[in-house]
Amino acid sequence: MALVEPRLSTANVPDSWATAPLFSTSGARRFATIATAEGTSLYGTGEIAGPLLRNGQVTEVSTMQPFRRDPPPGLGSLEYDDATPNLYQAHPWVLGVRADGSAFGALADTSYRLRIDLTAGIVFSGEEPFPVIVIEGDSPQEVLRQLGELTGTMELPPLWALGYQQARWSYLPDARVREVADEFRARSIPCDVIWVDIDYMDEFRIFTFEPEGFSDPSGLNDYLHGQGFRSVWILDPGVKVDPGYSVYEEGLAGEHFLLGPDGEPFTGGSWPLDSHWPDFTRPETREWWKAYFPAFLGNGLDGIWIDVNEPSLIFPVGAQFPEDVVHRGGGGLPEATHRRYRNAYGLLMAQATFEALREARPQRRPFVLSRSNFIGGQRYAAMWTGDNSASWAHLYWSVTMSLNMGLSGQPFVGPDIGGFFKTPSPSLYAHWIGVGALFPFSRTHTVSGSADQEPWSFGAEVESTARTAIERRYRLLPYLYTLFHEASTIGLPVWRPVFFADPSDASLRAEDHAFLLGADVLVEPVLTEADPHEFALPDGAWRPFTLVGEDSDSDPAIPTLKARGGAIIPLGEVIQTTTEPSLEPLTLLVSLDDRGQAEGILYEDDGEGYDYRDGDYLLTTYAAERIDGTVALTIASQEGDRQRPERTVNVVVLTDEGTFFGTGSETSVIRVPLQ
Ligand code: GLC
Repeated sequence: MALVEPRLSTANVPDSWATAPLFSTSGARRFATIATAEGTSLYGTGEIAGPLLRNGQVTEVSTMQPFRRDPPPGLGSLEYDDATPNLYQAHPWVLGVRADGSAFGALADTSYRLRIDLTAGIVFSGEEPFPVIVIEGDSPQEVLRQLGELTGTMELPPLWALGYQQARWSYLPDARVREVADEFRARSIPCDVIWVDIDYMDEFRIFTFEPEGFSDPSGLNDYLHGQGFRSVWILDPGVKVDPGYSVYEEGLAGEHFLLGPDGEPFTGGSWPLDSHWPDFTRPETREWWKAYFPAFLGNGLDGIWIDVNEPSLIFPVGAQFPEDVVHRGGGGLPEATHRRYRNAYGLLMAQATFEALREARPQRRPFVLSRSNFIGGQRYAAMWTGDNSASWAHLYWSVTMSLNMGLSGQPFVGPDIGGFFKTPSPSLYAHWIGVGALFPFSRTHTVSGSADQEPWSFGAEVESTARTAIERRYRLLPYLYTLFHEASTIGLPVWRPVFFADPSDASLRAEDHAFLLGADVLVEPVLTEADPHEFALPDGAWRPFTLVGEDSDSDPAIPTLKARGGAIIPLGEVIQTTTEPSLEPLTLLVSLDDRGQAEGILYEDDGEGYDYRDGDYLLTTYAAERIDGTVALTIASQEGDRQRPERTVNVVVLTDEGTFFGTGSETSVIRVPLQ
C-alpha cells in the first residue's frame, strides 16, 4: 500500500467538467490522475446503475438527494436509471484489473464530494485536496482483502438475516403484518423476516408507535417470534419539530441537532414535515441516539432499517440539504459544513445505530440496513439499492449494482425484489425472485399504494417459481453462511463477477448477467425479456446441479446453477425459517476436478451471539478423492471447539459420467461408488 500525493492542478480541466451540474464551478479543482495500461478493466465506484464494467463511465461520489430530480407528477418521476450519476451511497474507490489478471485499487481518501472519471484511465477530481491510497495485488481477490484490512470487514450477521425477507410500505395495521406472516406459513414459502415501514409510527415521530394500528408492538413481535419470524423496523433521522415530544425536547436540550449558519437548529422536511436532524458527528449525539434503543428494542424488535440518511429532505419536493449546515464534530472529527459531511452522514448514523443494538443487547448480533453509507460502512450496516423500479432494466442493474458494491467492500447487498416503484408483470416478478432469492440480502419490497407484491400475488405459477427460488436459498444457506464468514474475516464479496474465476481471461471482464456465488457456484440468470443474453463463461468443468426437484430444467425464471469442478458445496434442508435445524442431514455436493479431487469448507456456529469469538464454531474442510471406481469423502481439517453434531451426511457426486449418491457419518470415511 502506498500513499500517493494527488496532483494538484487546475491545468487539465476538460471543458465538459466546467459545466458539470453537481459541482460548483468556482474555485480550483483538484485532480488525481492514475494512468492505466491497455487491457485494464475498471470496477467499483460504489452504488451506480449500469454495466458492471465501468471503463468509460463518469460517477459522482456524492450521496444524492433522491427527490432532487424532476419533482412530481407521479412518484415514478423519481426513479433512477443508468444516466443518474450518483445514488445513495458514496464509495470513492476504483478496482482495476490489468490484462494479466493482476489488480490494484485506488481510494480517494475524502468525504467531500468527488468525481470519478474513467473515460481515460482514472481521474479523481474534487474541490478540496485529498490523498489517494493505492493498493497493489496479484489478483482482484487480493486487492479486496487489503481493502478489508484498510476499511474493516463486515461483522458476521445473525443467521436469520440471511433468510428470505418480506416488506412493503406499509403492512398496516399490525393485523396485516400477522396476516402476511400467516400466509407464508400456510403456503409453505420459507421466510425469516417481516419488515415494518414508517406507518407504525405515531405521526412519523421516531421511537413511537401509532396508538391504534400498532398499539401492541411487543404482542406483534411475540406473535411473529412464535412462528419463527424476526421483524425489522424503520427509523428515519428526521425528528419532528413538535413541542412536548420527548425526542424533540431532549434533542434540543442536548444540542443534538445540525445547525443552520445562524446557529439555530436546522429545520428541513422529513416525513413528519418540519424536522431537526441529529448531528451524528458529535459523540454526545451518538450517545443520545443510542439511549433510545434499550426501551425501543424492548418491544421485541429484531433489526433496524435506517433510511433517508443521505440525508434527504422529503418536503417540499425538490428541496436540497443546504451546504452551509453545520456539523459540530468532536472526538477527532473537526467541525465542518455539510460539504464535508454529507457523504458520511449515513455511515455515522449506521455506526451509532449498530452500536446502539450491540450495547442494548450484547448477546445478539446487530442487524442494520441502511440506504446511505460511505466506504467502510459495511462494518455497520447491510445495504439495499434504494427506490428502484419494476422494469427489466432495473432487474439487470440490481445484479450489476450488487456486484460493484461487493467490489467496493460491501458484501451484504440486495435490491427491492420486484422493484419499488410500479408493479412488475408476473413474468418480471418471477425472474426477479428467481435470481433475487440468491442475493446476499434477499427482500421483496414495494412503494405505498402499489399492488400486492408478495410471492403469491402473481398467480399460482409465479408462486410456485417463488417457492422453488426461496427453497433453493434455504438449501444453499450453509454455503451462504460460510461465504459471510469469509466476508467477515477476509473481506471477499459474497457475489463475485465471473472474471474472478480467471482474472486473466479477457473474455470474462464484461460478463454481468452470470455471476459467482462465492468461488464455487456459477449462476446463469435470465435478466432480459427479449434478446437472450449470451453468457461469457469461465473455462473448466462447471457442472449444472439442481436443489429442489428438477428446478432448473423446467422453469426459465429459475437460474441455472453450476458447481465448479474441484469444489465441495455444503447444503442444508429446505426449512421454513432459520429457527428450524437445517443440517439434519447435511448434504455435500461434490464436483470433481480433472484429477478426480475436490475440496470445500463449511462454517457453523450458533447463528446468533458472539460465542463463536470464544471458539464455539466449527470450520470444517472436506476433501474428496476418486480412487478407482469410488469417491472417498473425508474431513481434511477442522478448526474451532464446537462439538461436531452426530448427523447423517448425504454425498452427491457430480462427474462427467453422471451423478452418484452416498451416505454416511462424517466421523468416518464416506465412500460413494461411481456406478
Ligand atoms: C423511502 C425508502 C423506501 C421506504 C419509504 C417509506 O422511499 O427508500 O424503501 O419504503 O421511504 O419509508
